[in-house]
Amino acid sequence: IILTAGSLCNTMSSSSSMRISPPQEGEAKTNEELYQQFTKLVSSWPCSPALSNYQLYRHDNGWHSSLAPMVGTMVADACFAARPSDIIVATLPKSGTTWIKALLYSTVHRREHPADSSDHPFNTRGPHECIKFLEYQLYTQNRIPDLDELPDPRLFATHAPFVSLPRSVVASGCKIVCVCRDPKDTLISHWNFANKFRVGDGLEPLSVQAAADYFCDGVSPFGPCWDHVLGYWRAHSANPEQVLFFRYEEMSRDPAAHVRRLAEFVGCPFSVEEEEDGVVDAIVKLCSFEHMTGLEATKGGKTELTFGVVENSSFFRRGQVGDWENHLSPETARKIDAITEAKFRGSGLSI
Ligand code: PPS
Repeated sequence: IILTAGSLCNTMSSSSSMRISPPQEGEAKTNEELYQQFTKLVSSWPCSPALSNYQLYRHDNGWHSSLAPMVGTMVADACFAARPSDIIVATLPKSGTTWIKALLYSTVHRREHPADSSDHPFNTRGPHECIKFLEYQLYTQNRIPDLDELPDPRLFATHAPFVSLPRSVVASGCKIVCVCRDPKDTLISHWNFANKFRVGDGLEPLSVQAAADYFCDGVSPFGPCWDHVLGYWRAHSANPEQVLFFRYEEMSRDPAAHVRRLAEFVGCPFSVEEEEDGVVDAIVKLCSFEHMTGLEATKGGKTELTFGVVENSSFFRRGQVGDWENHLSPETARKIDAITEAKFRGSGLSI
């Protein structure tokens, strides 16, 4: 169904599967008007307190987000023109985004920026500045960025669920790299992150139980977590050449094997010479939690996101598998595991 930008507000809310077309010539809207229309539409959707320092809206496709990134996701859907050579990192927040961005950037750019060079870009720019989010950094603040001049392969990221990816991403056949994580660790990571911002905004910190309740109800950024993971898992199962699917826990167990798989997937496998020269290990070391947290770009750097400027250090906390055990009661852990098992049953996916 083709909608013009001018008609979308009235028509979109009546169907959950409709997509919005970019404005056509003649009906042209200013950037501000396009953003305003989506803002008006999102503002008409249900909204509730959540595992966040913001209230979260419920998109017609069933996922939750605060206003600006949800609008950014929809503007990106309408305006982003993917190329077959693009590579998109697609993750749920707090499931390994920063790490996979670092691994992807350093793998793709290893020839001009060797991982063991003393002037690697990571010394001055964090992974979120090297690979930008569509909805948090590019399609924000009334901007429709001109991305045409960027050289191939262009690297982007999104937290959007598969169902709400920009239509051109799926149509172009470009590569999508996903990472998922044990929902319990994702929850604990998010709880810590959200409380940092809640306290900064003068809000009460959430108890871990309140955070878990929101999480289980699906009211977490880009949640329900399980639907997000399943969306990409099914896309991977249907089309493994286009969608790569990693698990944080397996990356932690054997990062080098994942760097090799990533390089092959994006079409730049390591040569015998590179293997002999230890290039894979250098990338693993460069992107390791220990190394990244010691960099000036992490300790003192900042990243501008749609909701404000964020210290790069806030993307790093413990970087461990199973930290949930230090925070969740056995009962809450069992409840989350039971949801995971029920949701993933029959999908071939287990965590
Ligand atoms: S975000 O805000 O969505 O980009 O956050 P995201 O990067 O997805 O998740 C943050 C968690 O990932 C940990 N992290 C890492 N783990 C291993 N290696 C590296 N290099 C790395 N970088 C970040 C980070 O510490 C957060 O997990 P927790 O459990 O909170 O420590």
